[in-house]
Amino acid sequence: MTAVATYYWPGQTQFGFGAANLIGAEAKNLGAAKKVFVVTDAGIVAAGLLQPVLDALAAAGLNVELFDQTPPNPTTTAVDAAAAQFKESGAELIIALGGGSAIDAAKAVRILAGGPPEAKCAEYALMLGDDVRPLPTVPQMPPMIAIPTTAGTGAEVTPWGVITDEARKLKMGVGGPATIPTVALIDPALTLTLPPHLTAATGMDALTHLIEAYVSTNMAPIALDALILDGIGRIGRFLRLAVAQPSHQQAREEMMLASMLGGIAISSRWLGAAHSLAHQLSGIAHVHHGLACALMLPAQMQFSLPGALDRYAQVAQALDPIPVPGSVREEAERGVTAVRQLMTDINLPLRLRDVGVTEAMIPELADNAIIDLNWTTNPRAITRDQMEMLYRETF
Ligand SMILES: [Fe+2]
Repeated sequence: MTAVATYYWPGQTQFGFGAANLIGAEAKNLGAAKKVFVVTDAGIVAAGLLQPVLDALAAAGLNVELFDQTPPNPTTTAVDAAAAQFKESGAELIIALGGGSAIDAAKAVRILAGGPPEAKCAEYALMLGDDVRPLPTVPQMPPMIAIPTTAGTGAEVTPWGVITDEARKLKMGVGGPATIPTVALIDPALTLTLPPHLTAATGMDALTHLIEAYVSTNMAPIALDALILDGIGRIGRFLRLAVAQPSHQQAREEMMLASMLGGIAISSRWLGAAHSLAHQLSGIAHVHHGLACALMLPAQMQFSLPGALDRYAQVAQALDPIPVPGSVREEAERGVTAVRQLMTDINLPLRLRDVGVTEAMIPELADNAIIDLNWTTNPRAITRDQMEMLYRETF
């Protein structure tokens, strides 16, 4: 018997070079008449990506209230401050410009903007189970436009944001079906100046999304299979090129497309243990999210092979398509090798000790990873002690 398949498709999505220039018109289409609230971070401002957006909004006759202090891993404190600023400003629409951090923070601001005045970001943490504060409905929240500046998170098309709760030292998810951005303007031109190490790390985040969604036990939205394998193939063909030749337009476009497909994939199929493990590396050792995913992916794949041999073999064929005589198991393991080879080619470290993680952190990392529920759709069930083993293997 097949379970009821639930597909969470993105909102209105405009993709291609020049898409970001549509911001003024799209803000007006969504009903903004006077003022919009822009969420971004200092890196985006320094890279010169904010000014063209501000110019386009001014040309459309819209005033801007700016929050440009999103931390690299957005915190509950920053989100609560931004939400207070939003409510004060009288803005009619939220625009997120940035990587996953700015888009995730903006999603949380949007939730707080639609919730009761006393609500705080930490109360919306999905890990709270029955105690989580219910999300506002779509009409209660201001509309939101997301403009990604990295090819990695796919956050412009997903329902959730990941916010760091400083008090609990945990990365927590917030959001639900209602919080998929209303409009996504996906413009590969914004990634042309992204430095190689960030191109590499964010690209591996996209690959981790696609692989974890492909082997997820939440398989009912099966029509996504073809999209996912297509996305993995694009990363296999173009991530090296985007890192080696940052201004390569086709490579940037292909990576942006793969990132979007990853976002669509995880919206319906969810993630796996690599993300449970990676979130703690960011929460405790401040490792970049994409790099943390890349570091944990090979060991998590190797561990999870017995639960999805055929699917990992298909991942290998999509990522590194050469005909290989041998068993399905050998082919599945070739996928792990292909991921490690890709990481080496794009100059990423392979060990936790190389990114500021200490051996003493490992027990706490494992304690936190097991309460990060992404692992529940991992193709092989995993325990806290097995998570500790994967951290030690990667150390
Ligand atoms: Fe991710």
